[in-house]
Amino acid sequence: MGEHGEVQAVLQRANGQVGSIQLEAQDVHLRFGGVVALAGVSLGVHQGEIAAIIGPNGAGKTSLLNAFSGLYPITSGRLLYDGHDVTRLKPHQIARLGVARTFQNIELFKGMSVLDNLMLGRHIHLKSGLLSSGLYWGAARREEVANREIIEDVIDFLEIEAIRKRTVGTLAYGLQKRVELGRALAMQPRLLLLDEPMAGMNAEEKEDMARFVLDIHEERNVTIVLIEHDMGVVMDISDHVAVLNFGRRIGYGTPDEVRRDPDVIQAYLGEETEPRKATLEPSAVDHAADPRARARG
Ligand SMILES: Nc1ncnc2c1ncn2[C@@H]1O[C@H](COP(=O)(O)OP(=O)(O)OP(=O)(O)O)[C@@H](O)[C@H]1O
Ligand SMILES: [Mg+2]
Repeated sequence: MGEHGEVQAVLQRANGQVGSIQLEAQDVHLRFGGVVALAGVSLGVHQGEIAAIIGPNGAGKTSLLNAFSGLYPITSGRLLYDGHDVTRLKPHQIARLGVARTFQNIELFKGMSVLDNLMLGRHIHLKSGLLSSGLYWGAARREEVANREIIEDVIDFLEIEAIRKRTVGTLAYGLQKRVELGRALAMQPRLLLLDEPMAGMNAEEKEDMARFVLDIHEERNVTIVLIEHDMGVVMDISDHVAVLNFGRRIGYGTPDEVRRDPDVIQAYLGEETEPRKATLEPSAVDHAADPRARARG
């Protein structure tokens, strides 16, 4: 890159158009008593990308997501969002910044309907974010109407019209995962943290979920951080992949770079294979069927 190109790149970054760091962990340590979940992890997530976090079971992936979303106060280090220090913020404050998430073990109100779960996500967000987000709804009625429109849009987008009145606990696991994604989307996030959104799904459900993630990213301009064990999905849809092992970042790069990284291969293939342990082989899911996945690949 010539001098001009470098200046352009810096300007673009300064303008937040391309590739500026939206979310950053700086030397993050997280301990639970004697258990070290994160042992000095640094990671930058670029504005507008899909970033994957992979690693064997117990590597610290969920812990890092929990640190980002304010759920686990970190032991040391710093967390930044749009360059601001958010290390000590509480989950609802992080949510207010436009960060939404889903959980590895679905966190929905199982006894309530799909619609109520979506509405609840919306209400929690609006009540806590009313002033800081600059939104002001003149009347409760107008707030209700606006909320409903957003929810209807989410229902439409995720194609869950047919189950809107169903009790969440009665739904198949894959659908519950989709509803949880819906609740996160109802918050109209700028950044979405997804903890194994495709775990426990069959091939078709995975295919659907991968398509939704890509559509959210492309149509709604949402930055995505994705923990996923399915390497086919990860390699297909990610711009960057961070690899954790024993609470440390042992690899980072584009999918191709990471796939060839000897440390990463060692972490995945150097130990006995456990039931949920991922391999770097492409999955059985036929992502080629999805033109977007092919276009990105
Ligand atoms: N709330 C907690 N209390 C105590 N220890 C915890 C807690 N959460 C995580 N840990 C420990 O921290 C380490 C990292 O766990 P974490 O859940 O972040 O791993 P992970 O990479 O998400 O694994 P998996 O792929 O199985 O979901 C593990 O040793 C785990 O037992
Ligand atoms: Mg986890």
